[in-house]
Amino acid sequence: MNNFNFYLPTNVYFGKGQIKHLPEVLKDCGNKVLLVYGGGSIKRSGLYDEIMSLCKTNDIEVFELSGVDPNPRIESVRNGSKICKENDIDVVLAAGGGSSIDCAKMIAAAAKSDLDAWELVIDPSKIKEPLPIVSILTLAATGSEMDPFAVISDMKTNMKVGVGCDLLKPKASIMDPSYTFSVPKKQTAAGTADIMSHIFESYFSNVKEGFMQSRIAEALLKTCIKYGPIAYNDPENYEARANLMWASSWAINGLLKAGNEVEWCVHPMEHELSAYYDITHGVGLAILTPRWMEYVLNEDTLDRFVEYGMNVWGISPHKEKEEIAKEAIENTYKFFESLDIPMTLKEVGIDETHLEEMTSKIDKIETAYKPLYKEDMLKIYKMSL
Ligand code: NZQ
Ligand code: ZN
Repeated sequence: MNNFNFYLPTNVYFGKGQIKHLPEVLKDCGNKVLLVYGGGSIKRSGLYDEIMSLCKTNDIEVFELSGVDPNPRIESVRNGSKICKENDIDVVLAAGGGSSIDCAKMIAAAAKSDLDAWELVIDPSKIKEPLPIVSILTLAATGSEMDPFAVISDMKTNMKVGVGCDLLKPKASIMDPSYTFSVPKKQTAAGTADIMSHIFESYFSNVKEGFMQSRIAEALLKTCIKYGPIAYNDPENYEARANLMWASSWAINGLLKAGNEVEWCVHPMEHELSAYYDITHGVGLAILTPRWMEYVLNEDTLDRFVEYGMNVWGISPHKEKEEIAKEAIENTYKFFESLDIPMTLKEVGIDETHLEEMTSKIDKIETAYKPLYKEDMLKIYKMSL
């Protein structure tokens, strides 16, 4: 197992009614809060009123940045940081899915910097002492509630960039699974695919000594496979929503990656699709993943696919190794299809027009087994059309 540093500062309040801790968490940082949220789902669900009333009774002053887009834009970050600077904000509170939380993270960073926010996105080493970040999660998917990442887009230049910086890990996250009852079916499916992709990105590593990480990864994958369809068909099933929510955090909070030599590869390819076509992140991942698996299946990766097939899908160990691996990939495809995710790029409005341009933006990806070059990425995109 490789050496690693594992740092997890997020204070998690998980379960029904845990929002009662919000005032103490916020007051720990100060009295002025910037609330960051999206297109209004928190207003429809009643969460907005709950936050406002808790803040009012505890003398916490709330400023607002609303309208954060799915695939959050740099313009929202700039607007939010301006509000923070003009009003001496003490803490940035995100209420929503990954987009609102990611936007809040970069607002917190830009609020304490003289640089333009985009400079911090492309060079996170310039992020110094951001404002504290608190999240109230309403969609199980990205893991942003407990991770160091923020993904921000500049649609004018077709750039979607992932920032990684330990200083961006939320100080606290309130995770009440009942807030996810109202998540639409499409987002429930996409969120499940996203969680699974985060796990795959770490699981397909060639560091064999990461036994513990691998077995936890398999348990998390089984959690998604069991509970994704239940949440999809029965949105108010608390057990399913709770398991998906907790899996979303552990898929990407560093546990699976620690000690493993991994470079993510499906995510960078998906980010290009979103940057050009503004598609839902999890849908792009679900389309690319089985094709990527098919493409990288070879004698070096075979054993890992066999473990995946047997331990996650319960495929009989008495079959030939190649048969197990192929069946596992087919099961992955069929699983996403069973959640009604469109499984070709054409179905989400993507044709060959920009594919070469997209691959030209990524030089090569050093995966755990062998590098993926532009030609490889183009082939995977074309297999997905
Ligand atoms: O904007 P609102 O009105 O809140 O509606 C959202 C949005 O339309 C809606 N929604 C969220 N919670 C809801 C709800 N609707 C009803 N009830 C609820 N409880 O769902 C839609 C999608 O929300 P969004 O936040 O965009 O989804 P997600 O959490 O999947 O975040 C996607 C973004 O995160 C990035 C993606 O690239 C994408 O930009 N990622 C962030 C990562 C990270 N920070 O670690 C890693 C990921 O790999 C990913 O790249
Ligand atoms: Zn993701």
